[in-house]
Amino acid sequence: SPPVPALCGIPLKYISLVTLAVQNSLLTIIMHYSRVHIPPSQSYSAPTAVLLNELLKGAISLAIAFTRMDRPASYATDPPQPSLTSGRFWHSSRVLLRSRRLAREVFSPDCWKLSIPAILYVIQNNLQYVAATNLEAATFQVSYQMKILTTAAFSVLLLRKQLSASQWVALFFLAIGVGIVQIQTGASDTAKATSSLLFQGASMNAVKGFLAVVAACFTSGLAGVYFEMVLKNSQSDLWIRNVQLSAFSLLPALVPIILARRPDAGFTTSLFQNFGGWAWATVAIQVVGGLVTAMVIKYSDNILKGFATSLSIVISFLASVALFDFRITFTFILGSVIVLIATWLYNQPNRSSTPLRLGYTAV
Ligand code: C5P
Repeated sequence: SPPVPALCGIPLKYISLVTLAVQNSLLTIIMHYSRVHIPPSQSYSAPTAVLLNELLKGAISLAIAFTRMDRPASYATDPPQPSLTSGRFWHSSRVLLRSRRLAREVFSPDCWKLSIPAILYVIQNNLQYVAATNLEAATFQVSYQMKILTTAAFSVLLLRKQLSASQWVALFFLAIGVGIVQIQTGASDTAKATSSLLFQGASMNAVKGFLAVVAACFTSGLAGVYFEMVLKNSQSDLWIRNVQLSAFSLLPALVPIILARRPDAGFTTSLFQNFGGWAWATVAIQVVGGLVTAMVIKYSDNILKGFATSLSIVISFLASVALFDFRITFTFILGSVIVLIATWLYNQPNRSSTPLRLGYTAV
């Protein structure tokens, strides 16, 4: 079997999983802080952040895909012997050949298939901002676990995957756990965030936030399963698929920017208005998330990805208590524990039937 890739002796599989858990929590906290605890007059454009995320992720994926391109076939058997005069020529022609191969792969006839998950992810990434603006960070994190439910539903419907009895039970408890967490959120009709950082935050609308999470869970499930179908049915490199995904995201990501454009302000001005350090931090963490998701898919599997996400519930919860004066209620703890147990139960290996793999598939 091929050697397991490692960094400083630690398998990349574990590095990527821990990074994903920390990234998930950081994103929830920083996104929540940047939207709720900064005066509304200084709020930045979420659609701009989504667009920048896709641009940066696409550029990084393109660079990785380029470095992973095989050596041109013509050099495979007869490698050029670089000399002082010919070395530079061979180098530039090699770069040219690689670039042409890369372009051919990116613009492959089946690249259009990525347009569907691309549109869904753009919607999901925008909805994530609506949810993070209107829900407590910890509540958002727990509710977002419902994507396990939607991913399972779409996997059964589209991929004809089979769930074991314990997985159905786990899904049932997941829904109950999220419902219990929502009881506390619903009780305070329009919650006000009170930050220990001395800023009285923007008002939050729990119903709006919850509806955004539900919709984001649907797009996450459908996009994930569709992406899995595309990956499974072709030989294309994961990084090429990532480039195609980002490329097809650009147009839908521009739509909300154009719709929200103020006629009195210039395009670039309205695009980057109030786009400060917190906004850039949110974008950077999202970019890392997209790339690490790809690493988890490659070096690990979706069963372990579920564990990483549930670990991030605990991190976000503790951070919310420390940073945002998040009030711990009995219902919140009960709901969160049920969600964690359901996630654990769902991810238990099943010997009698094919276990469902969440989200994407390893390539
Ligand atoms: O929560 P979920 O796993 O559905 O989130 C996926 C996130 O990762 C989305 O923000 C999506 O844009 C990103 N992603 C990515 N590259 C992939 C798959 C997902 O950047 N190949």
